Amino acid sequence: MVEVGGNGRIWLLSGEHSSYALRLTRHDELLHLHWGPRLALADAEALAAEPPQRFRSFESRLDGREEYPVEGGPRFVRPALSVRAADGGGGRGSEWEFRGAETDDEVLRLTFRDPVHRLGVTLHYRMRAGSDVLERWATAVHEGGPGDPALDLLRLDSAAWTLPRADRRRLSHLHGRWAAESLLARAELTPGETVIGSRRGHTSHRHLPWVALDDGTAGEEHGEVYGCALAWSGSWRIAVQQLDDGVVQAVGGAGHDDSGLVRLAPGESYTAPVFAGLYTGGGFGAASRAWHAWQLAHVVPDAHTPRPVLYNSWEATKFDVELDHQRELARRAASMGVELFVVDDGWFGARTHAKAGLGDWTPNPDRFPEGLKPLADEVHGLGMHFGIWVEPEMVNPDSDLYRAHPDWVHHRPDRRRTEFRHQLVLDLGRPEVRTYLWEQLDELLRSAPIDYVKWDFNRSLTEPGAHTDPSLPHVQGLYGLLDRLRAAHPHVAFESCSGGGGRIDLGILSRTDQVWTSDNTDPLDRLPIQHGIGQIHPARVTAAWVTDSPNEQMQDRVSSLRYRFVSAMAGVLGVGGDLARWSGEELAEAGRWVELYKRIRPAVQLGRLYRLREPQEGLSAVQYVLGDDPERADEVVVLAWLQAQRYNESLPPLRLAALDTAAEYEVLAGGEPGEVLRGAVLAHRGLRTGLHGDLDATVVHLRRR
Ligand code: DGJ
Repeated sequence: MVEVGGNGRIWLLSGEHSSYALRLTRHDELLHLHWGPRLALADAEALAAEPPQRFRSFESRLDGREEYPVEGGPRFVRPALSVRAADGGGGRGSEWEFRGAETDDEVLRLTFRDPVHRLGVTLHYRMRAGSDVLERWATAVHEGGPGDPALDLLRLDSAAWTLPRADRRRLSHLHGRWAAESLLARAELTPGETVIGSRRGHTSHRHLPWVALDDGTAGEEHGEVYGCALAWSGSWRIAVQQLDDGVVQAVGGAGHDDSGLVRLAPGESYTAPVFAGLYTGGGFGAASRAWHAWQLAHVVPDAHTPRPVLYNSWEATKFDVELDHQRELARRAASMGVELFVVDDGWFGARTHAKAGLGDWTPNPDRFPEGLKPLADEVHGLGMHFGIWVEPEMVNPDSDLYRAHPDWVHHRPDRRRTEFRHQLVLDLGRPEVRTYLWEQLDELLRSAPIDYVKWDFNRSLTEPGAHTDPSLPHVQGLYGLLDRLRAAHPHVAFESCSGGGGRIDLGILSRTDQVWTSDNTDPLDRLPIQHGIGQIHPARVTAAWVTDSPNEQMQDRVSSLRYRFVSAMAGVLGVGGDLARWSGEELAEAGRWVELYKRIRPAVQLGRLYRLREPQEGLSAVQYVLGDDPERADEVVVLAWLQAQRYNESLPPLRLAALDTAAEYEVLAGGEPGEVLRGAVLAHRGLRTGLHGDLDATVVHLRRR
């Protein structure tokens, strides 16, 4: 809901439990008023009417108070906007004149103009009904005419988020590396700046574009938590600044540096990605649930359709893709109840190893002499959907595509072409590259009944641009290509992969159906990765596979199928082991786990998440809840894992959340009602897990009677 007061110069946006207020001074300065619990318009007006603070020399009266700090004037904070004319005229600072406001039920748009640079800037705010996530972004347009110099947007962030003053601030974020992505880090914020981001041209394994801030006292289910997340899949930056007076401001947007994001010719415009913010008074758990609900409602396509259980052949075959072996894997996968069979890397061109074939998206004639259709038909005949792996943005120098178009890759003519994994990156900013990829992929999707595409991206961008960030047109091109493919093939689902979790963000998630969380499929290592990514993204989008044990990455750890399945059930379940080597007993047991997963899937993928115990040593657990009343769960699923038990240690019961304490819950065993437990006992004493020993795990499925 958007309300306007103060003679049209105060705006209040309210969500389910929170409000956000801002005002315009008579000097056209746009000041932040409030972000936190719900306010009435009269409260926002009272805040705006307070006499201004006194400022002394060396103190800025705007720093930490503005909605969108620009470079220049009495400001010393990190600016969200820095612009200069390509010919250097007009300097770099900006001064704004207010042009006007537009509002509807959910959206506020405020437009300004810098008369010297002839740059129009619009700040957008959108608070959707039923949510507390406020979406913010900015657009810039070169309003000059023919003959005016181009404008270099050195930086144009999506938004600046200002938190109320507190004695302390603590920063949570997700960091990691390949095969250990999305690990939660939580530390005291100190005066100065903390910067996270990616200079790699993709979101990267190092950080996910999300931060949370609290006053150091919030817990899983209590306390005020602020969060910000960026919807962008190229290079990016979020800078969290703690200013002299304790005010904390977070600015974020596309591009990592301030040296040139995009160049606008007269008439051209740039729209920054959404940088969303969320306030909750209910702790980190409520923050995650609010992020999840918003993504399921407004970001992820068709999010209320549960994702199928898939089989992926990568860990079983690597590049040795062979038709009869794939058939055998498919038969075995079908026998265990798998719903989607995916052939990974190695089915196309000369791709029998990592050094060749990327770029040539036609089936390898030795491996698939009649194309993919016979295998796809066979997979469909087994009752499964059929999927394939592609990595369209890449090319091996040893490929027909590269031999024909060596200039299509990101490169500088006078420099070496940097290779990783023997591959170069096609420049998707170029229309002819996008056209080629569109034709290849469209043709591929028409050549066989393909239901699913795993879209991989296995290296970072390395060649810097001249004036602008090359990842910006690349990612815009990628988004356009994905949108076009989705529109032309609406029945095809897409997975975003980047060597595991190198491209997970709200931008890619608005045009893909799920993401490959990590190349690390070890079930114990996965728990903290899942704990981290679940801070922001729902289980509905985070794929997890059960693979062989030991597997290639973790040669020294052996775990039971039970442990591996229960670990992977905390996401979109998949199987990725070499099924040809699984015994009849293992296949039968796996089938029972798949069956159980299908029963709990609505709660896991679409329910509300409560983290009962963090994945540190010992016992950890999560709970998923279904039901219209958030305080009286209709259906509950608990997944619990025991890493290792100490001698004579008795494990604590798990106190369940969101239960109807006046009701009874029956344990569904094999889908059938069994033991009956009292809601109050489960909530106040807790659920006994029965776990013991090392690497044990369990699933408890409860339904309210
Ligand atoms: C990296 C992915 O994360 C893996 O799952 C697999 O698809 C390989 N690429 C294939 O090259």
